[in-house]
Amino acid sequence: MLTLDYANCLSSRVGPHGLDPARVHAQGDNARGISELTGKLNQSRGTGWERWRELWNEPMRSAHLDAVHAIANEAEGRFENIVVLGIGGSALGNIAIQSALNEPTYNLLPAADRPGPRMFVVDNVDPANLESVLKICDPKTTLFNVVSKSGETAETAAQFMIIRKRLQDAVGKRWADHVVAITDPAKGTMRTICDDAGITTLPVPDGVGGRFSVLSPVGLFSAAMCGIDIDALLDGAKAMDKRCSDPDLTKNPGAMLALLLVELGTRKGKPNHVLMPYANGLKLLGDWYAQLWAESLGKRFDTSGEEVFTGFTPISALGTTDQHSQVQLYREGPNDKVIGFVEVESFDPDLTIPTGMGVEAIEYLEGKSMTALLNAEKRATEYALVDSQRPNYTIKMPRVDAHHVGEFIALWEIATAYAGGMLGIDAYDQPAVETGKKATFGLMGRDGYADWLTKVDETLGETPYCVE
Ligand code: PA5
Repeated sequence: MLTLDYANCLSSRVGPHGLDPARVHAQGDNARGISELTGKLNQSRGTGWERWRELWNEPMRSAHLDAVHAIANEAEGRFENIVVLGIGGSALGNIAIQSALNEPTYNLLPAADRPGPRMFVVDNVDPANLESVLKICDPKTTLFNVVSKSGETAETAAQFMIIRKRLQDAVGKRWADHVVAITDPAKGTMRTICDDAGITTLPVPDGVGGRFSVLSPVGLFSAAMCGIDIDALLDGAKAMDKRCSDPDLTKNPGAMLALLLVELGTRKGKPNHVLMPYANGLKLLGDWYAQLWAESLGKRFDTSGEEVFTGFTPISALGTTDQHSQVQLYREGPNDKVIGFVEVESFDPDLTIPTGMGVEAIEYLEGKSMTALLNAEKRATEYALVDSQRPNYTIKMPRVDAHHVGEFIALWEIATAYAGGMLGIDAYDQPAVETGKKATFGLMGRDGYADWLTKVDETLGETPYCVE
């Protein structure tokens, strides 16, 4: 079970930069009405854009697991590679789960030592990047997993069009057998393409937005293909959801995490929120968190239409690596951050530093485990931050496995829902992202978007302000 240690966010540890424990623990209005908000979220779960909170419950859970396992079983042994095509919420979770739960050298292992095909995620339209993946993934032996709820996202559409042509050239009419698409079950451009071409599909369920979709087929299919225990991922999420439904703040890690970050962010001048796992595999969960926290909470208007310009800047870091890079700033730079550590209690395998080196200056390391060193460094950094009154918290993970990663994902999704409620904003839209998408359509000549081209050209017209 994950735990959340927040002592270092309180004034008792970090003085005026921390929160008053009495205010945090008050269950009424003082603590932003947590019990009332929990009641509201327990009511709205499974409705509107909060359907993601039913992904680990029946009937959605079994429907998705059965469909994902059936397609993954059918594909087993047929492909040397799986290449995921998607972007944002349709890619970041896939990358994070693979990186957390499979070995870092997974793709380099001989096929017999891997539980599935090599896995690549192409989440950009950088041509050099795509071409380099295609150079080592022969379309004849590759399954392309295209993920797009709308099917209209320019990046994913462009990738898909290139792949389709490469597949047609390589395998001819049976190209669609090399594609599994994850898209809206009923509508959208990708749905039409799949229906017309006979592409196998899995659903992005209605009411589940991109950044909340990792525990839907969006993230589950590529994970299952690579031998990850997706049932355990959902079990972990369900267990965390149960804890996060408790109206008692002190027993509800999602509510507590949101409360700490919202209060520190809005009342104590700490709008920059670092997530710093002490485990390489968890680093990319930091990128997934960054999208969730930034895109959900960065909003101009609240739900009553008032201009609020709210939100926090997520920062992804890695311990111990960033102790030698960013921690100088965190400790002595502006006191405008909350640092979130993730501590893994036990690694498998662990390594013991051998004895017998015979060099006095490093003798203290002899016979110690790498985990002991890693976690001592984390504790030392925690101490150093408290010493300079920098608020921080620790999420403790007993070990990195599918159950605990499922807990971690649900924890942040639920904390985001709480934070949205506390800030009074809609955590599920992304109007600012849509503007960029429409301007891209204009620039790329899509019918109906010519006025966007004009707007872009007028705004970004030539100026003399350029150093040449
Ligand atoms: O969180 C979101 O909604 C976005 O990041 C989307 O996932 C992203 O823009 C991709 O959209 P789509 O799945 O429609 O291609």
